[in-house]
Amino acid sequence: MASEKRIDPDDGSAYTWEEFSEFYTGKYKKKEIAAYWEDCEVVKKKKAKAKAKEGAKAKAKTKAKAKVEEEPKPKAKAKAKVKAKAKPKAAKEPKPAGNFKVCVCGGAGGIGQPLSLLMGMDPNVKELCVFDLSVAMVPPEGVAADLSHLERKCKVTGYVMEVGKNPIDFLEECLTGCHLVLVPAGMPRKPGMTRDDLFKVNADIAKGIVEACAKFCPEAVLGMIVNPVNSVVPAMAELYKKKGLNPEKIVGITTLDVVRANKFVGEAMGKNPNFINIPVIGGHAGETILPLFSQDKIGKTLEADKIADMDKKVQDAGTKVVEAKNGKGSATLSMAYAGARLGKSVLAGLSGRKRTECAYVASTVTDLPYFAQKVVFGEGGVVKALPLGELNEHETKRLEELKPILQKEIDSGLEYAKANELAA
Ligand code: LMR
Repeated sequence: MASEKRIDPDDGSAYTWEEFSEFYTGKYKKKEIAAYWEDCEVVKKKKAKAKAKEGAKAKAKTKAKAKVEEEPKPKAKAKAKVKAKAKPKAAKEPKPAGNFKVCVCGGAGGIGQPLSLLMGMDPNVKELCVFDLSVAMVPPEGVAADLSHLERKCKVTGYVMEVGKNPIDFLEECLTGCHLVLVPAGMPRKPGMTRDDLFKVNADIAKGIVEACAKFCPEAVLGMIVNPVNSVVPAMAELYKKKGLNPEKIVGITTLDVVRANKFVGEAMGKNPNFINIPVIGGHAGETILPLFSQDKIGKTLEADKIADMDKKVQDAGTKVVEAKNGKGSATLSMAYAGARLGKSVLAGLSGRKRTECAYVASTVTDLPYFAQKVVFGEGGVVKALPLGELNEHETKRLEELKPILQKEIDSGLEYAKANELAA
């Protein structure tokens, strides 16, 4: 098993057992990781050329392996063994890929197109709907026609609507039967703007889509990529609640903050960001973005005098992209990548393979009613909110500082929900 590689269907990449188990350790029980490994397709033996390439990586692999061997976990092993004995076959039963229907609302835009591509490649997606307005950069039917040529099982259909019309009047076919609706919609920031400046216009855009989802796919998970996430998500979740629907179906996608934290720490520490997983809690704007470097095995090795700068770098990353795009939008490709990571985790959860991700949801882990935190996605969507875990001094101070800022942004959302109603 030592040199064997298997393809993780989650990202389509090949990993050794050491890399695979190191990545999932802490997120899943050892037994679950082993069962998932059993489900993964084995990469066939490589020829000489590929072997040479492997050689370059061998050093790193050996290191990782040595580390794993250095730190045996006899207790955990024993526990897993006992459990395995009690239920020997259950762990090995492969779970079939899901057959889910996914809609990307705003699917012909800057985020929507790559997000639709990435979701269309997910083996759990059977049907993909690309919805957008007639003023989108490309007609959504064109994006759908393009994506329908991928060698994947999913059927792709485009849906268009004129500006000024209501999604609820047009999206019955598109949304009916959807398990997941991803919403990269609304106006992006221009240099000098805060995410909060977008609230009025973007909340109305989000409401139109959420209203249609409430009618045609009320059980679907809605992944919101609409700024300001800190206010839009509470607004939409409270509107769902007012309508007697489950507010936990509304999930704010903050995964890009995690992706950025992983990348920046990887760069600073000379490590592969693929094996870094920094929880980012709080919200998705400025100081409300709080990376918990201390909770990752590489993140916690950052020198104390570098933490404040790294924290700020993660907070300001979106603004840096807005400035670099110079009035022509905000992060699209990395946002699509992050949105797809979250979307795939939701679908994996729905198919019975639980996944843990940070997301901005209705919450009770602090005194704030909405909060980005680690949640477990399972059958039905969010099945568990995880505790914040231990915070160091810097993180504890930052948490207290961000609370009043985030509360104010949540309040804007709550006021919006009070003043509005979802149509029947
Ligand atoms: C991001 O974090 O890149 C997005 O929220 C877009 C923005 O306005 O920064």
